[in-house]
Amino acid sequence: MSLRARLLAAFAYVLVIVIVALLVPLGINLQKRLHGEVESLASDQAELVATAASRGLGSPRQLGRLASESAQNLDGRVLIVDASGIVLADSETARTLGENYGTRARPELSKALGGRTEQGLRQSETLDEELLATAVPVISGGRVRGAVRVTQSVDAVNSAVRDDILALAGVAALALVIGLGVAWILAGSIARPLRGLAGVARRMAGGELGARAEPRGSREQVALSNAFNEMADRLNAVLDSQRDFVANASHQLRTPLTGLQLRIEAAKGKTRGAATARDLDAAERETQRLSELVSALLTLAESEEAAESAEEAELASVSSAAAERWRDTSAEAGHELVVLGRGTAVVGGSEADLAVILDNLIENAIKYSSPGSPIEIGWKLGDGAVVLAVSNRGAPLPEEELEGAFKRFQRGTGAARGGGTGLGLSIVAALARRWGASARLRNEPDGIAAEVVLVAADGTLPTHNPGPVGSMT
Ligand SMILES: Nc1ncnc2c1ncn2[C@@H]1O[C@H](COP(=O)(O)OP(=O)(O)OP(=O)(O)O)[C@@H](O)[C@H]1O
Ligand SMILES: [Mg+2]
Repeated sequence: MSLRARLLAAFAYVLVIVIVALLVPLGINLQKRLHGEVESLASDQAELVATAASRGLGSPRQLGRLASESAQNLDGRVLIVDASGIVLADSETARTLGENYGTRARPELSKALGGRTEQGLRQSETLDEELLATAVPVISGGRVRGAVRVTQSVDAVNSAVRDDILALAGVAALALVIGLGVAWILAGSIARPLRGLAGVARRMAGGELGARAEPRGSREQVALSNAFNEMADRLNAVLDSQRDFVANASHQLRTPLTGLQLRIEAAKGKTRGAATARDLDAAERETQRLSELVSALLTLAESEEAAESAEEAELASVSSAAAERWRDTSAEAGHELVVLGRGTAVVGGSEADLAVILDNLIENAIKYSSPGSPIEIGWKLGDGAVVLAVSNRGAPLPEEELEGAFKRFQRGTGAARGGGTGLGLSIVAALARRWGASARLRNEPDGIAAEVVLVAADGTLPTHNPGPVGSMT
């Protein structure tokens, strides 16, 4: 889960809790208050009508006016009955006049006629809706003379409550969206420097040792970037000194080594004994090996230095030059050397470095391929990259050997077939890294392909596919 998603989830969690904690009691309270207000208004009005009715019970017209006026105020129905429950006035219709309403179907009226004020919700069977019924006795001279009943539909109140709660929910949703928007921006500002730092770390891992993080963001983020840059500087210093040491040591070893070789050669000329001559031959081979090792170490140390400037090379010319260099050697070993790549492929890298890369790959192909089999040099286009490959026939290598071959002094199971230091592919990898490229060994259906994935130079990709590269896929 990304940092942004985590922060958003945390914000959403807190916001939802706060909103629910505030809105639920607010909604309940609102509902109670609205209902309470309606109830007390209905009671007051009913009392008022009852008081007025106690003075005018004898006049049906006066009662009728009273009922319809207060019904208008309340937006409900007002009914006045006499002591026996007979309807004297009804704000809604004249048809009920004279009917007995003091029945069980209207319990509030029975209770009011018993001298008690009654208020409650009940389902009206005639209207099929929920009603708030308020009934109060009409008392005159200490006796119950009748009752006033006010009925109102609570649907209107409920829908008002619903509207208010919906409005509150809308405000809550808006608050949530704004909160999440703020969280999104905040998370981005926290994640951006971290992403930048990760990018720099990846570039360094890819060989760009000069890459540094840009110190920006909060104080902690700046401190992190500075600490990272400090670490990178120290790491670079250690690597530089290690490389310098190897380069200096190899360089220093060269002179005495050449001296040693000359002396062995001179001793060989002077000796008469066959046994001594054999020993001197062996010593000469060992110094030769030592000399190769020293040269390879020096090349490796130099290969690990960063490139000083951006350079570009064209693979067709670099490949045919390499093929020319190795044509005789490979013919002597019984291998035909073919350049399969066609078209122009310009890549980031110097011609000199690509020549060393190809020399090492062709040398390996000659050393490790099946006798008499051809060796192919080719290239093909990838996604913004050009893959340069040297392929040879031979038995497939186990997975760990394919990866391990690029480690220093690492020699595989097939290495016994030819002399070597185990530094060839390390040099290839170091030179490739210098140009933002990478190297790999791959098993192919009929052999091994050593590939270098190079960065294609901008705007110089071949206009047509350069064609198949051996058995490259
Ligand atoms: N084309 C190939 N086919 C099969 N095995 C290979 C091939 N290229 C490399 N290898 C294996 O990878 C190992 C490492 O190769 P690398 O070039 O680094 O060293 P080397 O060839 O043994 O020595 P050097 O290159 O210093 O003479 C080899 O010993 C060999 O086992
Ligand atoms: Mg080699």
